[in-house]
Parts: sequence; C-alpha cells; structure tokens
Amino acid sequence: MSALFQPYTLKDITLRNRIAVPPMCQYMAVDGQANDWHLSHYAGMARGGAGLVIVEATAVAPEGRITPGCTGIWNDDLAQAFVPVVKAIKAAGSVPGIQIAHAGRKASANRPWEGDDHIAEGDARGWQTIAPSAIAFGGGLPKVPHAMDLDDIARVQQNFVDAAIRAREVGFEWLELHFAHGYLAQSFFSTHANQRDDIYGGSLENRSRFLLETLKAVRAVWPEHLPLTIRFGVLEFDGRDEQTLLESIGLVRQFKDAGMDMLSVSMGFTIPDVSIPWGPAFMGPIAERVRREAGVPVSSAWGFGTPAIAERVVKEEQLDVVMVGKAHLANPHWAYFAAKELGVERASWTLPAPYAHWLERY
Ligand SMILES: Cc1cc2nc3c(=O)[nH]c(=O)nc-3n(C[C@H](O)[C@H](O)[C@H](O)COP(=O)(O)O)c2cc1C
Repeated sequence: MSALFQPYTLKDITLRNRIAVPPMCQYMAVDGQANDWHLSHYAGMARGGAGLVIVEATAVAPEGRITPGCTGIWNDDLAQAFVPVVKAIKAAGSVPGIQIAHAGRKASANRPWEGDDHIAEGDARGWQTIAPSAIAFGGGLPKVPHAMDLDDIARVQQNFVDAAIRAREVGFEWLELHFAHGYLAQSFFSTHANQRDDIYGGSLENRSRFLLETLKAVRAVWPEHLPLTIRFGVLEFDGRDEQTLLESIGLVRQFKDAGMDMLSVSMGFTIPDVSIPWGPAFMGPIAERVRREAGVPVSSAWGFGTPAIAERVVKEEQLDVVMVGKAHLANPHWAYFAAKELGVERASWTLPAPYAHWLERY
C-alpha cells in the first residue's frame, strides 16, 4: 500500500494524494496579469494527477513582484484573470492553491533567463524596492532598498489581506503566505537583512512581529474551513543553523497558535554566499524535526522528485505532503508514472477518467 497515494485531508479540503506542485514562477505575466500561458501550464500540472497545485508567487503589490513578468493580485481585474486557471485545476481533480508574496529587496529583477540580476538603475522597467532596512542583498542584486516606515508596513500587511480576500473570491481553496527565500517577510525575520531599532527589529520577538501580524490579519479574512499555510525558511546554512532552527521552531509554534494549518519547510536565502548541502531529500530530516518539535503538518521541496524518495519521506513521517517541482516541468504526468513505478494498483486512478480509462491497459 503506497503512503504517497493516500488521500490527505486538511480542514475541509481533501487532496487525492500527497503530491503537490509547489509554486513555480513562470515570469510570463504582463503587468501582473495571468494569461493563456498560465492557463496552459497549470491545467497541464493538474491533469497529471497531483493532489494540489499551488500557483506561483503572486505579488500583493506592484513593487512586490520579483520581475516584471511575475503575476499579481493587487486589484480585482488581476484576480479575475485567475478564474480560468482555478477552474482548469479543479476540472482535472486537483485542489487550486496560490502563494501570495512580496519580494522586498529582491524585487525589480530581470527574468532568470535574462540575467536573474537587478534591473539596472535608470532602466524604466525597474522600480524602487522596499525592505525592513536599507541593506542590499548583494551579489547580482545590489539595489539598496528603501527602509520601510510604519505606514509602509501597515500598507503591505493590508495588501496581503486584500490579496487573500481576492484569492478566495476567485475560488482558490488553499492559501500559502510566502514568508521564505529572502523575500520581504523572511528579511524581517533575519538579522542579515533586518537592522531596525523599532518594534519590528532587534529581538526575536520584534523580528517575528511582521510575520505574525500579517498571518493574524490574513487568518481573520481567509475562511476558517480552508487551509492557510506558510512557506518559511527555517535556516540559512550560514553556520548559525542550530540557533536559527531553534528560533524558527519557536516561531512556527506561534504560527500554529495564530491559525496556520501547515508549514512548507524551506530555506532563508537571505544572503548570497552560503553553502547549501544540496542532495536528494536533504530537507527531509529538517522538515521532520520542525514537524515533531512544533507539532504542525509539514510539506517540503528540493529533491523529492523521485518516486521512491517521495514514497519514503511520507512513509517515514518526515513529510505530510511532498512538493515535486522541476520533475513536474519535465513530466506533468509525474504522479501517474510515480504510481506505476510504486506498483500502485490501478495507477491510472490518479488521472481524470478520459485518460484513465485508456491507460488502464496501456
Ligand atoms: C522555475 C521555478 C520557479 C520557482 N518559483 C517559486 C515561487 O514562486 N515560490 C516559491 O516559494 N518557490 C519557487 N521555486 C522553488 C520551488 O517551489 C521548489 O522549492 C524548487 O523547485 C525545489 O523543488 P524541486 O527540487 O522539486 O524542483 C521555484 C522553482 C523553480 C524551478
């Protein structure tokens, strides 16, 4: 009996299996608006059999986009553009999720295949970035952000709330707050990026404040019966990992008390020069520790895209849900082939009937 192919229920939502397509930016939007590419891409991901498809980091404000090609949800027209995407994901039997995000000082960048670096000063395609402190990320992202004042903080938190309301209105059933990867929320938590001397900086309590306040404000508008999850970098691989992990686990417990339903365990990416121990399933033991010590359901990504590995981490209770990213880009029917490889009886049940019927004997 496969563990990976057991259904999974969180609040009122049941996933048909433990496989999720994690948020993956497509950089194909124009002025924040999702289009035919997004419909084609997400429909394909859902058709392949994953239980959950999370739409890419979608900016809560124009200046929160990573690149000019990132999707946004800062007004109703942009939200409406997701309606066909939501419908297509649901029609294929997946649960439609969305990650809402603000890129902070990493915003105003070129697309990965056009440099992945900050848009040059003076280039009209770029914009002023904001962050907890006026400290640049460094490396290819040298732009010095504007340090947010209290009005800026309140405005962005309201942007998250409005984005959550719009996401619900257009039918998303799973919401993920992007508090990871060195973007705005993660940079409030990190001493590498946050040198404030007010109530949003300094002590662990103060560095956690932006994240907790934002979560509470979103939870107040996001329906209680639907999952609200957070993606958060629990460590940086900067040599201070045990301390950061302990601080993170403490914060994750507070997330749980404030109504978070699941943590997507990831890395901080707050500084450019770190040595990450890349390898298959390397985040598994870290996610398992967060799961056990904070007492929350967890998902994780990074190198779980081999069926035997995905099966093992669910069976060993390291992860509740497995994020399979690039392997889905290579093969949108990853879930079907994983089921076949794992010897799941009637592997084709992962697929919609018009495919399943024919593939039963294929
Ligand atoms: C093209 C691409 C875009 C991504 N965009 C996002 C994103 O929008 N939000 C996010 O949290 N992670 C993003 N990621 C990270 C993925 O969610 C995932 O963690 C990563 O691909 C590792 O999983 P994998 O080894 O299964 O590919 C992106 C990754 C890729 C390859």
